[in-house]
Amino acid sequence: MKVLIVGSGGREHAIAWKVSKSPLVTEIFCAPGNPGIEEIAKCVEIDVGNIEKLVEFSREINIDLTIVGPEVPLVAGIVDAFKKEGLSIIGPSKKAAQLEGSKAFSKNFMEKYNIPSARYDEVVTYEEACLALDQYSYPVVIKADGLAAGKGVLICENRKEAEAGLKDILLDKVFGDAGNKVVIEEFLEGIETSILCFVDKGKIVPMVSSQDHKRIFDGDKGPNTGGMGTYSPNYVYTDAIARKVDETILQPTLKGIQDEAMDYVGILFIGLMITKEGPKVLEYNVRFGDPETQVVLPRLETDLVEIFQAMIKNELSNIDIKWNDKAAVCVVLASGGYPGSYEKGKKIAGMEQMDQDIIAFHSGTKTIDGDLTTNGGRVMGVTAIADSINSAKEKAYYNVEKISFDGKQYRKDIATV
Ligand code: AMP
Ligand code: GLY
Repeated sequence: MKVLIVGSGGREHAIAWKVSKSPLVTEIFCAPGNPGIEEIAKCVEIDVGNIEKLVEFSREINIDLTIVGPEVPLVAGIVDAFKKEGLSIIGPSKKAAQLEGSKAFSKNFMEKYNIPSARYDEVVTYEEACLALDQYSYPVVIKADGLAAGKGVLICENRKEAEAGLKDILLDKVFGDAGNKVVIEEFLEGIETSILCFVDKGKIVPMVSSQDHKRIFDGDKGPNTGGMGTYSPNYVYTDAIARKVDETILQPTLKGIQDEAMDYVGILFIGLMITKEGPKVLEYNVRFGDPETQVVLPRLETDLVEIFQAMIKNELSNIDIKWNDKAAVCVVLASGGYPGSYEKGKKIAGMEQMDQDIIAFHSGTKTIDGDLTTNGGRVMGVTAIADSINSAKEKAYYNVEKISFDGKQYRKDIATV
């Protein structure tokens, strides 16, 4: 089988790494990929947004299965375009991808299917938004409706901050058309958990739990990032919580997808807040998480390609998906200045000194004149697997120290509970 992976980050590296272990697979392509992925796949220079070219490439090379990493092509309708050409692809249709592409759409969906979530208002004008604010206490959450590269969620401590955020989004259009609508939401307190799920027409199967650390600094301080590290399993995710999530969130979500006739054969990532009143949905993402995938897939024992093949035939209920009982920790190394502006092109040293069983999933790297250099805010994620979270953490940090580049920054408290 020939497999194409769309994307270029640590998530796609983790997917490629897992796919490369499948005996069903003869060749892996990645568009556009990165130097880490290049070691296991053939990277092709096609932008993730260039759906036409991706379809053309898949037809020319006879790709048997395409896996899409990032949300942008999914929301733009890559799955519809591939299916129209009879090409096999894992991901939701354009309509179903609205669960991530529009916060208002996903909140309406949750309300309609009684899925526990934060109370909210949907507004389109600044005046309407200011009126709605009267109904909320602080902190309050303000979300640009559309995709905003992970920057569209503001947690505002007081009315002044909230009004400033609303002005930025609705009047000054700092997120462009993604800010044509805004969702104002009650702030939920609790422990966040990421649950990625396999979904086909008849079944939703959760993967093992994980937790992302989104803020740039230790102790969850500073601005949000794409994710500075993850661990799996998440300590709050007990069997009792898992049962409750299945009953109150997963099954109603699948029912909603079916009732709305959404074509969803793909990965659904449910961001949860485990609150005192029980688990509530913060958001849906219609893809694998980054860097959640870097700790979840190393725990998957079953062949990922076999699972995807079953999903395409709507036979997810026939496959027994197995996980190991290990713990995984991923620490992200970022460029100095990230998530603000940062410099690229810093030489990365020490990769060869890492322990054999460590997996360094590349995100923002580039080879220049034979040297591996930094090429993004998040540079790579160092994943360690061990019998417990503590030993995985120790192993990950021991290896993180071996890698150096100018301006390297990372959180020292990933997986600290
Ligand atoms: P989202 O893009 O919707 O995942 O939001 C990004 C992050 O903002 C989440 O991972 C949470 O940390 C935080 N967040 C979003 N909605 C809420 C909420 N209602 N209450 C508390 N935190 C939230
Ligand atoms: N780790 C959060 C995300 O992938 O959106």
